[in-house]
Amino acid sequence: MYIVLIGPQGSGKGTQADRLVASLDLMKISTGELFRAERAAGTELGNLVAGILDAGELVPDDVTIAIVEGRLKEIDAGAAHGAVFDGFPRNRGQAEALDAALSSRGSSIDHVVEIDISEEKLIHRLSGRRVCTVCGAVYHIETAPPAVDMICDRCGGHVAQRADDTPESIHRRLSIFAELTKPLLDYYSERGIVSHVDGDQPMQSVEHAIRRIVQSEVGAS
Ligand code: AP5
Repeated sequence: MYIVLIGPQGSGKGTQADRLVASLDLMKISTGELFRAERAAGTELGNLVAGILDAGELVPDDVTIAIVEGRLKEIDAGAAHGAVFDGFPRNRGQAEALDAALSSRGSSIDHVVEIDISEEKLIHRLSGRRVCTVCGAVYHIETAPPAVDMICDRCGGHVAQRADDTPESIHRRLSIFAELTKPLLDYYSERGIVSHVDGDQPMQSVEHAIRRIVQSEVGAS
């Protein structure tokens, strides 16, 4: 099964992808998380994208599509039974590349879930967000803090604020979302695979709403 989560920055795509993958035997493919991991490891790719991430601009499509293709090959090798895409695709070119990559595997996207949220909540979420610098687990200082201050519950890594959670970068990412990413809902809606979830609910309620959407697929897999 292949699920695409679409929503503005801070809507909870990463949070929900984490919750869904474990029980559904799907791989989380978060391009932002993959780029941050490359950056933390100091790889050539990480150094190339560092400034782009901080500015909130999009990494070039060829680089982004290549990193996704690498993860799809892991699925081909049996690492999971599909994927939840978080932050990919972000524009029409990426959407078409994903369609082609899945089609060449005899697959296609099963569900596109839009997570909608008010701008007021979004700013509160992003300013309080903290992430594990090792495994990428997502926390919030008020609504979802780690059990031990600044230590990741999952891997024991250091938890810190993301370098791109600055007002300038948030503003830029939101305008790119409105201009390039949100229109993808029209691209997908012709196929009848788009659903909408209210992201202004507690995390568990959002998770239940998404699970209800993919439930028939769970039973079938
Ligand atoms: P990316 O990492 O994808 O960042 P983003 O799109 O800006 O999205 P966010 O991670 O900010 O939001 P989210 O919806 O995942 O929210 P989260 O779950 O963390 O991309 C970063 C950069 O990488 C981009 O700017 C770009 O440069 C590059 N990039 C990535 N993908 C690319 C692509 N395809 N092409 C080109 N470049 C690309 O939640 C936010 C906070 O809210 C957390 O603290 C969480 O605990 C809390 N929270 C979540 N849900 C709830 C809830 N229901 N109630 C209360 N709190 C909640």
